[in-house]
Amino acid sequence: MGFYETRVLPVMIDLACGAKPISKQRQKVVPLAEGRVLEVGMGSGINISFYDPSRIEFVWGLEPSEGMRRRAAPRLAKAPFEIRWLDLPGEEIPLEDDSADTVLLTFTLCTIPDFERALAQMRRVLKPGGRLLFVEHGAAPDESVRKWQDRVNPFWKKMAGGCNINRDVPRALEEAGFKVELLEQMYLPSTPRIAGFNYWGRAVQR
Ligand SMILES: C[S@@+](CC[C@H](N)C(=O)[O-])C[C@H]1O[C@@H](n2cnc3c(N)ncnc32)[C@H](O)[C@@H]1O
Repeated sequence: MGFYETRVLPVMIDLACGAKPISKQRQKVVPLAEGRVLEVGMGSGINISFYDPSRIEFVWGLEPSEGMRRRAAPRLAKAPFEIRWLDLPGEEIPLEDDSADTVLLTFTLCTIPDFERALAQMRRVLKPGGRLLFVEHGAAPDESVRKWQDRVNPFWKKMAGGCNINRDVPRALEEAGFKVELLEQMYLPSTPRIAGFNYWGRAVQR
């Protein structure tokens, strides 16, 4: 890992993920997390201040990037609930079956290289009756936007730490054995349409 990945990228991701339209999306979903929560790709810990602490037993923060974990440290220090770091990728979640009440995914599925495997892991660790809450960007419904997403994706991915702008998130969830119970979607305001098509909602095990 070079200087760009370990030092520059974590700052850029932290700034981009702190944008106002994105914060508004977090507000719609993160406070619904409850019990034992697994946050996959916790990044710089921006979600910490959006949780409702009265609903949280503790949070497993899974984050494979050392640079992101370093960036998260000040937010973790102020968290009003316990956070247990898991420094592995989503493809290798080191938890027992049926251990989480909530799995939280915000702006992470785009970046996980083997997202099918990671979703299978999330399904495995989610308790029966538990919920996967998500806010993700991905494939747009408009053909013209979608074409540009496919064209730009190879360059975008190189510059943005492996982020893909053209993944079909609801389809990926369904194919991984989840039932998407609630799905909302829109283009985020003040955001380029190729990177700003947002899905949010909740899914359960099928
Ligand atoms: C765009 S950031 C979003 C961070 C955070 N979820 C948020 O909402 O601010 C994507 C995160 O996914 C993490 N990531 C990359 N590969 C991953 C993997 N295989 N499993 C889990 N997380 C991964 C990155 O290190 C980064 O922190």
